[in-house]
Amino acid sequence: MTVTMITGGTRGIGREVARQLAEVHGHRVLLGARDLRRGRAVAAGMRGRVEAVELDVTNPATIDALAARLDGLDVLVNNAGVQLDGEVPSTEPDWAAIGGTLEVNLLGPWRVTAAVVPLLRRSPHPRIVNVSSSSGLTRLVNESGDASYCVSKAGLNMLTKIWSVELPGVLVNAACPGWVQTDMGGPDAPRTLAEGVQGILWLATLPDDGPTGRFYRFGTQAMRHATAMAEAEVPY
Ligand SMILES: NC(=O)c1ccc[n+]([C@@H]2O[C@H](COP(=O)([O-])OP(=O)(O)OC[C@H]3O[C@@H](n4cnc5c(N)ncnc54)[C@H](OP(=O)(O)O)[C@@H]3O)[C@@H](O)[C@H]2O)c1
Repeated sequence: MTVTMITGGTRGIGREVARQLAEVHGHRVLLGARDLRRGRAVAAGMRGRVEAVELDVTNPATIDALAARLDGLDVLVNNAGVQLDGEVPSTEPDWAAIGGTLEVNLLGPWRVTAAVVPLLRRSPHPRIVNVSSSSGLTRLVNESGDASYCVSKAGLNMLTKIWSVELPGVLVNAACPGWVQTDMGGPDAPRTLAEGVQGILWLATLPDDGPTGRFYRFGTQAMRHATAMAEAEVPY
C-alpha cells in the first residue's frame, strides 16, 4: 500500500488532498497537523486509512520525531503554507511576517524533505509534490505586495529543480493549484477545492515514467485549455 505524508492536512487543500488520496486512491495517509487533536478529528471524518501525525514544519523536533518512527514512505506532499505579508512594499519590510513566511513555506518543506529522503530512497515509487504558486514565477511579477510569499514560492520552485537532480528515481514536481476557495484563497476565489487539488493528486500518483523537476499551473485558464494534465506545464 502506498504511504503518503501530507503537511498541513487540517484545512483547505491539504485536507482535501488527504481525503481523496485515502478514499479514492487507496493510499495510507499520514495527515500532518500542528494540533494533533484537531488532526485526529479531521482524520476521523475521512474514510480509508488516515492517521493524524503531529507535524509543525517550523519545528525540527516534531519533524525528526515523526521521521524516526516511520517505517516507510512513498509520497511526500509539501502543502503547508502561510501568506502573511499583505500589501506592504518589500522595501518597508515587516521582518516578522517575512521570517514567518520563509520559515513555513521554504524552510519547512526543505526540513521535512531532508528528514524523509532516506525513507523515500527505499520506496519503489517515490514522489514529492511541492504545493507552490504562480506567485513564485519571476516572469509573472508585475505588482507590489506579498513579497515574502513570492520569494518563498520561487525558492520552493528552485528546490523542486534541485531535488529532481539530486534524487534520481524520485519524481519531484511543483504544482500551483490556481486561486482556490480556502481560508488562504478566500471565498471569491474562482476555483473550488475539488478543482484545486486535481493537479496535486495527479503528481502524487504519477506513473514511473512520469515527469520530474517540472512546474505545473492548474489555474482556471490553464485547465480550460488543457486536454491533459501535462499541458499545464509552464516554464519556471
Ligand atoms: N488557496 C489558494 O488560492 C492557493 C493558491 C496558490 C497556492 N496555494 C498553496 O496551497 C497550499 C495550501 O494552501 P490553502 O489555501 O489550503 O491554505 P489554508 O487553508 O490557509 O491551510 C493552510 C494549512 O497549512 C497549515 N500550516 C500552517 N503553518 C504550518 C506549520 N508551521 N506547520 C504545519 N502546518 C502548517 C495549516 O495548519 P493549521 O490548521 O494548524 O493552521 C493548514 O492546514 C499552501 O502552500 C499555499 O501557498 C494556495
